Amino acid sequence: MPDDVAALTARLSSAGFIAAAEEANELLACAGGDLERLESLVGRRLTGEPLAWITRRVSFCGLEIRVDPGVYVPRWHSEPLARRAADRLPATGVAIDLCTGAGAIARTLIAHRPGARVVASDVDERAIACAAANGVEVYRGDLFAPLPRALEGRVDVVIGVVPYVPTPALAMLQRDTFAFESPLAYDGGRDGTDILRRVVRESPTFLRRGGALLLELGGEQAGLLGDDLARLGYVDLAVLRDAESDVRGIEATRA
Ligand SMILES: C[S@@+](CC[C@H](N)C(=O)[O-])C[C@H]1O[C@@H](n2cnc3c(N)ncnc32)[C@H](O)[C@@H]1O
Repeated sequence: MPDDVAALTARLSSAGFIAAAEEANELLACAGGDLERLESLVGRRLTGEPLAWITRRVSFCGLEIRVDPGVYVPRWHSEPLARRAADRLPATGVAIDLCTGAGAIARTLIAHRPGARVVASDVDERAIACAAANGVEVYRGDLFAPLPRALEGRVDVVIGVVPYVPTPALAMLQRDTFAFESPLAYDGGRDGTDILRRVVRESPTFLRRGGALLLELGGEQAGLLGDDLARLGYVDLAVLRDAESDVRGIEATRA
């Protein structure tokens, strides 16, 4: 390990950063040999500001995604859901990425299905600008409300990593989370399912028959959505789990 990487790794490590070596390499690359700039970047990181906001990038499904300060940083644990959505999207199909943030999921779908049309929405204007800079066709507004009505009944895949943290659990997120990020990206209401339920209810307007709904969620939330999914006629409900068997999402098909 070169001296500058080793020194910065030690500094970050002693400040409690677990992935200190990876972060040191990213910060050094971002500074491009400018020591004054490096010191400023490291100073920001030491305040707990997300690394991706400092380097302005994150890797998601092997793609480099631009992430502007203030925009939710796409998480690696959302990657399998994005890949599954790409599997369900026909080559010239149509997909909707709700609550797109930086647009990482939409970009993944575009990369896997370049002939498909992928549209996205978000309420936050910084997210809209960032997703657009990432090459996503993005609309500002609440869930489906700003999307082109011409897509109604024609959509093959609706995917959403929407806010789903129960309001009482927001206090248990990482110490620095709300020093920088907005609860708007996380707060899913009393049991975390307020927005999830709305997506389940509103998706049939846009999904074609046989189209797929994929939602990230956790804990007991799949069970909480079960009645709504059955009442609205979704079939082939699958609960998606990670390698530790933790619930990470659901997949359902419009009958
Ligand atoms: C957890 S972040 C996920 C971002 C992105 N899907 C990802 O995985 O990187 C949730 C996003 O939902 C947006 N959001 C919150 N409420 C919304 C709503 N009612 N309609 C559209 N977007 C919303 C927030 O601005 C935020 O960008």
